[in-house]
Amino acid sequence: MTPTISRDDKFSFGLWTVGWQARDLFGEATRPALAGAEAVHKLAELGAYGITFHDDDLIPPGSSASERTRIIDEFKAALAETGLVVPMVTTNLFGDPVFKDGGFTSNDRGVRRYALRKVMHNMDLAAELGAQIYVFWGGREGSEVDFAKDVRAGLDRYREGIDFLAQYSIDKGYNMKFALEPKPNEPRGDILLPTIGHALAFISQLEHHEMVGINPETGHEQMASLNYTHGIAQALWQEKLFHIDLNGQKGPRYDQDLVFGYGDLLQAFSTVDLLENGAPGGGPTYDGDRHFDYKPLRTEDMDGVWESAKANMELYVTLRERSKEFRADPRVQEALEYSGVEALHTPTLNEGEDHAALLADRGSFEDYPIDDARTKGYGYARIQRYAIEHLLGVR
Ligand code: GCO
Ligand code: MN
Ligand code: MN
Repeated sequence: MTPTISRDDKFSFGLWTVGWQARDLFGEATRPALAGAEAVHKLAELGAYGITFHDDDLIPPGSSASERTRIIDEFKAALAETGLVVPMVTTNLFGDPVFKDGGFTSNDRGVRRYALRKVMHNMDLAAELGAQIYVFWGGREGSEVDFAKDVRAGLDRYREGIDFLAQYSIDKGYNMKFALEPKPNEPRGDILLPTIGHALAFISQLEHHEMVGINPETGHEQMASLNYTHGIAQALWQEKLFHIDLNGQKGPRYDQDLVFGYGDLLQAFSTVDLLENGAPGGGPTYDGDRHFDYKPLRTEDMDGVWESAKANMELYVTLRERSKEFRADPRVQEALEYSGVEALHTPTLNEGEDHAALLADRGSFEDYPIDDARTKGYGYARIQRYAIEHLLGVR
Protein backbone atom coordinates (compact mmCIF):
# COMPACT_ATOMS: atom_id res chain seq x y z
CA MET A 1 0.00 0.00 0.00
CA THR A 2 1.34 3.45 -0.90
CA PRO A 3 1.68 5.55 2.24
CA THR A 4 -0.05 8.93 2.35
CA ILE A 5 2.03 12.04 2.82
CA SER A 6 0.67 15.12 4.52
CA ARG A 7 1.88 18.57 5.57
CA ASP A 8 1.70 17.45 9.21
CA ASP A 9 4.62 15.11 8.49
CA LYS A 10 6.78 18.25 8.24
CA PHE A 11 8.83 17.05 5.27
CA SER A 12 11.17 19.59 3.75
CA PHE A 13 13.72 19.50 0.92
CA GLY A 14 16.73 21.57 -0.01
CA LEU A 15 16.32 23.39 -3.30
CA TRP A 16 19.80 22.06 -4.11
CA THR A 17 18.53 18.46 -3.85
CA VAL A 18 15.74 18.28 -6.42
CA GLY A 19 17.46 21.15 -8.23
CA TRP A 20 20.77 19.29 -8.55
CA GLN A 21 21.67 19.22 -12.22
CA ALA A 22 23.94 16.21 -11.63
CA ARG A 23 27.18 17.91 -12.58
CA ASP A 24 29.86 15.80 -10.89
CA LEU A 25 33.62 15.42 -10.74
CA PHE A 26 33.65 13.41 -13.94
CA GLY A 27 30.85 14.77 -16.06
CA GLU A 28 28.57 17.59 -17.10
CA ALA A 29 25.01 18.29 -16.02
CA THR A 30 22.41 15.76 -17.13
CA ARG A 31 19.38 17.83 -16.18
CA PRO A 32 18.11 21.36 -16.84
CA ALA A 33 18.11 24.11 -14.22
CA LEU A 34 15.09 24.15 -11.90
CA ALA A 35 13.70 27.52 -10.86
CA GLY A 36 12.93 28.00 -7.17
CA ALA A 37 9.28 28.81 -7.83
CA GLU A 38 8.82 25.64 -9.88
CA ALA A 39 10.38 23.51 -7.14
CA VAL A 40 7.97 25.06 -4.64
CA HIS A 41 4.94 24.08 -6.72
CA LYS A 42 6.11 20.55 -7.38
CA LEU A 43 7.13 19.84 -3.77
CA ALA A 44 3.81 21.18 -2.50
CA GLU A 45 2.01 18.88 -4.92
CA LEU A 46 3.93 15.90 -3.53
CA GLY A 47 2.90 16.74 0.03
CA ALA A 48 6.02 18.41 1.41
CA TYR A 49 5.56 21.34 3.78
CA GLY A 50 8.88 23.17 3.46
CA ILE A 51 11.69 24.16 1.14
CA THR A 52 15.18 25.30 2.16
CA PHE A 53 18.00 26.82 0.13
CA HIS A 54 21.52 28.24 -0.04
CA ASP A 55 21.68 31.86 -1.20
CA ASP A 56 23.24 30.76 -4.50
CA ASP A 57 20.65 28.02 -5.18
CA LEU A 58 17.87 30.57 -5.30
CA ILE A 59 19.75 33.52 -6.72
CA PRO A 60 22.45 32.53 -9.23
CA PRO A 61 25.74 34.27 -8.36
CA GLY A 62 26.26 37.31 -10.57
CA SER A 63 22.55 38.18 -10.74
CA SER A 64 21.85 41.91 -10.90
CA ALA A 65 19.88 43.63 -8.12
CA SER A 66 16.75 43.70 -10.27
CA GLU A 67 17.09 40.00 -11.18
CA ARG A 68 17.49 39.19 -7.51
CA THR A 69 14.29 41.08 -6.68
CA ARG A 70 12.39 39.34 -9.48
CA ILE A 71 13.53 35.87 -8.36
CA ILE A 72 12.63 36.55 -4.72
CA ASP A 73 9.23 37.96 -5.68
CA GLU A 74 8.43 34.90 -7.81
CA PHE A 75 9.59 32.61 -5.04
CA LYS A 76 7.44 34.41 -2.47
CA ALA A 77 4.44 34.29 -4.77
CA ALA A 78 4.86 30.52 -5.18
CA LEU A 79 5.09 30.13 -1.39
CA ALA A 80 1.92 32.17 -0.93
CA GLU A 81 0.06 30.17 -3.58
CA THR A 82 1.03 26.80 -2.19
CA GLY A 83 1.35 27.47 1.55
CA LEU A 84 4.85 25.97 1.53
CA VAL A 85 7.14 27.45 4.20
CA VAL A 86 10.87 28.16 4.45
CA PRO A 87 11.86 26.73 7.84
CA MET A 88 15.63 26.83 7.23
CA VAL A 89 18.12 28.75 5.11
CA THR A 90 21.88 28.35 4.67
CA THR A 91 24.84 29.98 2.90
CA ASN A 92 27.01 28.64 0.11
CA LEU A 93 30.52 29.18 1.47
CA PHE A 94 32.07 26.48 -0.70
CA GLY A 95 31.31 26.98 -4.41
CA ASP A 96 33.05 30.23 -5.24
CA PRO A 97 36.83 29.83 -5.73
CA VAL A 98 37.31 32.60 -3.15
CA PHE A 99 36.41 29.97 -0.52
CA LYS A 100 38.98 27.40 -1.64
CA ASP A 101 40.68 27.59 1.78
CA GLY A 102 37.45 28.05 3.71
CA GLY A 103 35.12 30.88 4.70
CA PHE A 104 35.35 31.59 8.43
CA THR A 105 38.69 29.79 8.74
CA SER A 106 40.56 30.72 5.58
CA ASN A 107 44.16 31.71 6.29
CA ASP A 108 43.30 34.90 4.34
CA ARG A 109 41.63 37.49 6.60
CA GLY A 110 39.95 39.29 3.68
CA VAL A 111 38.18 36.07 2.72
CA ARG A 112 36.97 35.63 6.29
CA ARG A 113 35.49 39.13 6.33
CA TYR A 114 33.87 38.55 2.92
CA ALA A 115 32.35 35.28 4.21
CA LEU A 116 30.76 37.06 7.18
CA ARG A 117 29.24 39.67 4.87
CA LYS A 118 27.85 36.97 2.55
CA VAL A 119 26.16 35.25 5.49
CA MET A 120 24.75 38.50 6.91
CA HIS A 121 23.27 39.41 3.53
CA ASN A 122 21.53 36.06 3.29
CA MET A 123 20.39 36.08 6.93
CA ASP A 124 18.44 39.23 6.07
CA LEU A 125 16.61 37.32 3.34
CA ALA A 126 16.13 34.28 5.61
CA ALA A 127 14.50 36.50 8.24
CA GLU A 128 12.29 38.11 5.62
CA LEU A 129 11.05 34.64 4.62
CA GLY A 130 10.45 33.63 8.23
CA ALA A 131 13.21 31.01 8.58
CA GLN A 132 13.74 29.94 12.20
CA ILE A 133 16.87 27.88 11.62
CA TYR A 134 20.09 28.95 9.96
CA VAL A 135 22.45 26.12 8.98
CA PHE A 136 26.23 26.28 8.78
CA TRP A 137 27.94 23.53 6.84
CA GLY A 138 31.63 24.31 6.62
CA GLY A 139 32.60 22.05 3.75
CA ARG A 140 35.69 24.10 2.89
CA GLU A 141 36.71 24.76 6.50
CA GLY A 142 39.60 22.33 6.75
CA SER A 143 42.80 21.29 5.07
CA GLU A 144 44.72 18.69 3.16
CA VAL A 145 48.09 19.62 4.66
CA ASP A 146 48.31 19.31 8.46
CA PHE A 147 51.23 21.75 8.64
CA ALA A 148 49.37 24.42 6.65
CA LYS A 149 46.43 24.90 9.01
CA ASP A 150 46.75 25.78 12.66
CA VAL A 151 43.62 23.96 13.84
CA ARG A 152 43.51 25.83 17.15
CA ALA A 153 43.61 29.19 15.38
CA GLY A 154 41.07 27.88 12.87
CA LEU A 155 38.71 27.01 15.73
CA ASP A 156 39.28 30.47 17.23
CA ARG A 157 38.24 32.05 13.94
CA TYR A 158 35.29 29.63 13.56
CA ARG A 159 34.09 30.62 17.04
CA GLU A 160 34.62 34.28 16.26
CA GLY A 161 32.50 33.95 13.12
CA ILE A 162 29.62 32.08 14.76
CA ASP A 163 29.65 34.37 17.82
CA PHE A 164 29.60 37.44 15.60
CA LEU A 165 26.69 36.18 13.48
CA ALA A 166 24.76 35.09 16.56
CA GLN A 167 25.11 38.63 17.86
CA TYR A 168 23.89 39.89 14.49
CA SER A 169 20.76 37.73 14.75
CA ILE A 170 20.14 38.95 18.31
CA ASP A 171 20.68 42.64 17.51
CA LYS A 172 18.43 42.45 14.44
CA GLY A 173 15.73 40.65 16.43
CA TYR A 174 15.82 37.72 13.98
CA ASN A 175 15.46 35.17 16.77
CA MET A 176 17.10 32.46 14.69
CA LYS A 177 18.65 29.30 15.98
CA PHE A 178 21.90 28.20 14.39
CA ALA A 179 22.60 24.58 13.44
CA LEU A 180 26.13 23.41 12.65
CA GLU A 181 26.42 20.50 10.23
CA PRO A 182 29.33 18.12 10.79
CA LYS A 183 31.07 16.20 7.99
CA PRO A 184 34.38 14.33 8.16
CA ASN A 185 35.77 15.08 4.69
CA GLU A 186 34.80 16.09 1.13
CA PRO A 187 35.36 18.53 -0.36
CA ARG A 188 38.32 19.19 1.98
CA GLY A 189 40.66 16.32 2.78
CA ASP A 190 39.79 16.84 6.45
CA ILE A 191 37.00 19.15 7.59
CA LEU A 192 36.87 20.97 10.95
CA LEU A 193 33.99 19.79 13.19
CA PRO A 194 34.09 16.35 11.51
CA THR A 195 31.47 14.59 13.64
CA ILE A 196 28.48 15.24 15.90
CA GLY A 197 30.75 14.87 18.92
CA HIS A 198 33.25 17.44 17.69
CA ALA A 199 30.47 19.90 16.89
CA LEU A 200 28.82 19.50 20.31
CA ALA A 201 32.13 20.07 22.04
CA PHE A 202 32.78 23.18 19.91
CA ILE A 203 29.34 24.62 20.75
CA SER A 204 30.14 24.46 24.47
CA GLN A 205 32.90 27.03 23.80
CA LEU A 206 30.62 29.60 22.12
CA GLU A 207 29.45 32.83 23.65
CA HIS A 208 25.84 32.25 22.58
CA HIS A 209 25.94 28.48 22.97
CA GLU A 210 22.27 28.42 23.95
CA MET A 211 21.19 29.44 20.43
CA VAL A 212 23.52 27.03 18.61
CA GLY A 213 22.80 23.35 18.01
CA ILE A 214 23.50 20.86 15.26
CA ASN A 215 22.15 19.65 11.92
CA PRO A 216 23.54 16.12 11.62
CA GLU A 217 23.33 14.32 8.28
CA THR A 218 22.83 10.54 8.18
CA GLY A 219 25.48 9.90 5.54
CA HIS A 220 28.09 12.15 7.08
CA GLU A 221 28.24 10.17 10.32
CA GLN A 222 28.21 6.92 8.37
CA MET A 223 31.13 8.14 6.21
CA ALA A 224 33.04 8.18 9.51
CA SER A 225 31.73 4.67 10.31
CA LEU A 226 29.65 6.10 13.15
CA ASN A 227 26.13 5.19 14.26
CA TYR A 228 23.78 8.04 13.22
CA THR A 229 21.02 6.98 15.61
CA HIS A 230 23.41 7.06 18.55
CA GLY A 231 24.72 10.44 17.41
CA ILE A 232 21.32 12.10 17.23
CA ALA A 233 20.36 10.45 20.53
CA GLN A 234 23.28 12.20 22.20
CA ALA A 235 22.34 15.46 20.49
CA LEU A 236 18.79 15.08 21.85
CA TRP A 237 20.18 14.30 25.29
CA GLN A 238 22.11 17.58 25.16
CA GLU A 239 19.03 19.35 23.71
CA LYS A 240 21.03 20.30 20.65
CA LEU A 241 19.19 18.54 17.84
CA PHE A 242 17.92 21.67 16.09
CA HIS A 243 17.57 20.23 12.58
CA ILE A 244 18.35 17.03 10.65
CA ASP A 245 19.53 16.10 7.16
CA LEU A 246 18.14 12.68 6.34
CA ASN A 247 19.62 10.63 3.50
CA GLY A 248 21.29 7.32 2.67
CA GLN A 249 24.90 6.16 2.50
CA LYS A 250 26.55 2.81 1.86
CA GLY A 251 29.35 2.77 4.38
CA PRO A 252 32.57 4.75 4.49
CA ARG A 253 33.06 6.03 0.97
CA TYR A 254 32.45 9.37 -0.81
CA ASP A 255 29.32 11.31 0.21
CA GLN A 256 26.58 9.54 -1.70
CA ASP A 257 23.55 11.54 -0.57
CA LEU A 258 21.25 8.64 -1.46
CA VAL A 259 17.52 8.61 -0.78
CA PHE A 260 16.78 8.26 2.95
CA GLY A 261 17.08 4.62 3.98
CA TYR A 262 18.61 3.52 0.67
CA GLY A 263 21.87 2.62 2.41
CA ASP A 264 21.74 1.25 5.92
CA LEU A 265 18.01 0.51 6.05
CA LEU A 266 18.09 -1.07 9.51
CA GLN A 267 19.75 2.02 10.96
CA ALA A 268 17.21 4.21 9.14
CA PHE A 269 14.55 2.20 11.00
CA SER A 270 16.13 2.91 14.38
CA THR A 271 16.53 6.58 13.40
CA VAL A 272 12.83 6.93 12.61
CA ASP A 273 11.92 4.98 15.74
CA LEU A 274 13.95 7.43 17.84
CA LEU A 275 12.58 10.52 16.09
CA GLU A 276 8.98 9.34 16.23
CA ASN A 277 8.73 7.37 19.46
CA GLY A 278 11.41 9.07 21.51
CA ALA A 279 13.37 7.30 24.18
CA PRO A 280 11.35 4.47 25.80
CA GLY A 281 11.46 6.09 29.24
CA GLY A 282 10.89 9.67 28.11
CA GLY A 283 13.45 12.42 27.64
CA PRO A 284 13.79 15.16 25.02
CA THR A 285 12.21 14.34 21.65
CA TYR A 286 12.54 15.93 18.23
CA ASP A 287 9.73 18.04 16.82
CA GLY A 288 11.60 19.83 14.03
CA ASP A 289 11.46 19.29 10.29
CA ARG A 290 12.14 15.99 8.61
CA HIS A 291 14.53 17.52 6.09
CA PHE A 292 15.94 15.51 3.20
CA ASP A 293 19.38 16.30 1.85
CA TYR A 294 19.87 13.83 -0.99
CA LYS A 295 20.90 13.83 -4.62
CA PRO A 296 18.60 12.33 -7.25
CA LEU A 297 20.56 9.80 -9.33
CA ARG A 298 22.49 11.30 -12.22
CA THR A 299 20.80 8.86 -14.61
CA GLU A 300 17.37 10.43 -14.06
CA ASP A 301 15.36 13.03 -15.90
CA MET A 302 12.96 15.30 -13.99
CA ASP A 303 10.39 12.51 -13.66
CA GLY A 304 13.02 10.47 -11.86
CA VAL A 305 13.82 13.45 -9.65
CA TRP A 306 10.23 13.71 -8.41
CA GLU A 307 10.01 9.93 -8.13
CA SER A 308 13.01 9.96 -5.77
CA ALA A 309 11.69 12.95 -3.79
CA LYS A 310 8.55 10.91 -3.17
CA ALA A 311 10.68 7.88 -2.25
CA ASN A 312 12.25 9.79 0.67
CA MET A 313 8.90 10.72 2.15
CA GLU A 314 7.22 7.39 1.51
CA LEU A 315 10.00 5.40 3.07
CA TYR A 316 9.98 7.66 6.11
CA VAL A 317 6.22 7.23 6.54
CA THR A 318 6.49 3.46 6.06
CA LEU A 319 9.24 3.21 8.67
CA ARG A 320 7.20 5.34 11.02
CA GLU A 321 4.23 2.97 10.67
CA ARG A 322 6.48 -0.05 11.16
CA SER A 323 8.06 1.52 14.25
CA LYS A 324 4.61 2.09 15.79
CA GLU A 325 3.73 -1.57 15.14
CA PHE A 326 7.07 -2.63 16.59
CA ARG A 327 6.47 -0.66 19.79
CA ALA A 328 2.88 -1.91 20.09
CA ASP A 329 3.77 -5.59 19.65
CA PRO A 330 3.34 -7.37 23.04
CA ARG A 331 6.22 -9.72 22.19
CA VAL A 332 8.50 -6.70 21.71
CA GLN A 333 7.32 -5.11 24.95
CA GLU A 334 7.97 -8.33 26.81
CA ALA A 335 11.41 -8.70 25.21
CA LEU A 336 12.39 -5.12 26.04
CA GLU A 337 11.29 -5.66 29.62
CA TYR A 338 13.26 -8.91 29.83
CA SER A 339 16.36 -7.19 28.46
CA GLY A 340 16.26 -4.39 31.03
CA VAL A 341 15.79 -1.58 28.52
CA GLU A 342 13.39 0.12 30.92
CA ALA A 343 15.54 -0.72 33.93
CA LEU A 344 18.39 1.43 32.56
CA HIS A 345 16.27 4.43 33.54
CA THR A 346 16.64 3.55 37.22
CA PRO A 347 19.53 5.46 38.81
CA THR A 348 22.46 3.28 39.84
CA LEU A 349 22.53 4.74 43.33
CA ASN A 350 19.65 4.99 45.79
CA GLU A 351 18.31 8.42 46.54
CA GLY A 352 20.83 10.24 48.73
CA GLU A 353 23.18 7.25 48.79
CA ASP A 354 26.77 8.39 49.36
CA HIS A 355 29.99 6.42 48.97
CA ALA A 356 29.91 5.32 52.61
CA ALA A 357 26.46 3.85 52.08
CA LEU A 358 27.53 2.05 48.91
CA LEU A 359 30.60 0.71 50.68
CA ALA A 360 28.35 -0.56 53.48
CA ASP A 361 26.10 -2.45 51.04
CA ARG A 362 27.66 -5.92 51.05
CA GLY A 363 25.17 -7.06 48.43
CA SER A 364 26.75 -4.73 45.88
CA PHE A 365 30.20 -6.30 46.15
CA GLU A 366 31.23 -8.76 48.88
CA ASP A 367 28.04 -10.82 48.63
CA TYR A 368 27.20 -9.92 45.04
CA PRO A 369 26.06 -13.05 43.17
CA ILE A 370 28.53 -12.33 40.42
CA ASP A 371 28.20 -15.68 38.66
CA ASP A 372 24.54 -15.00 37.91
CA ALA A 373 25.51 -11.80 36.10
CA ARG A 374 28.39 -13.55 34.38
CA THR A 375 26.27 -16.28 32.93
CA LYS A 376 22.93 -14.65 32.19
CA GLY A 377 21.84 -13.79 28.63
CA TYR A 378 20.47 -10.34 27.89
CA GLY A 379 18.03 -11.43 25.20
CA TYR A 380 19.03 -8.79 22.67
CA ALA A 381 19.03 -11.34 19.85
CA ARG A 382 15.27 -11.63 20.21
CA ILE A 383 14.78 -7.85 20.02
CA GLN A 384 16.94 -7.74 16.92
CA ARG A 385 14.89 -10.48 15.29
CA TYR A 386 11.61 -8.72 16.06
CA ALA A 387 12.96 -5.45 14.72
CA ILE A 388 13.85 -7.10 11.41
CA GLU A 389 10.46 -8.84 11.25
CA HIS A 390 8.66 -5.53 11.66
CA LEU A 391 10.97 -3.75 9.25
CA LEU A 392 10.28 -6.37 6.59
CA GLY A 393 6.59 -6.49 7.46
CA VAL A 394 6.76 -10.29 7.78
CA ARG A 395 5.21 -10.33 11.18
C1 GCO B 1 26.78 17.75 1.77
C2 GCO B 1 26.23 18.75 2.71
C3 GCO B 1 25.50 19.89 2.14
C4 GCO B 1 24.90 20.75 3.24
C5 GCO B 1 24.30 21.98 2.69
C6 GCO B 1 23.66 22.80 3.79
O1 GCO B 1 26.06 16.83 1.42
O2 GCO B 1 27.93 17.81 1.43
O3 GCO B 1 25.32 18.05 3.50
O4 GCO B 1 24.50 19.45 1.32
O5 GCO B 1 23.90 20.10 3.93
O6 GCO B 1 25.30 22.69 2.08
O7 GCO B 1 24.48 23.78 4.17
MN1 MN C 1 23.54 18.14 4.49
MN1 MN D 1 25.96 14.91 2.27
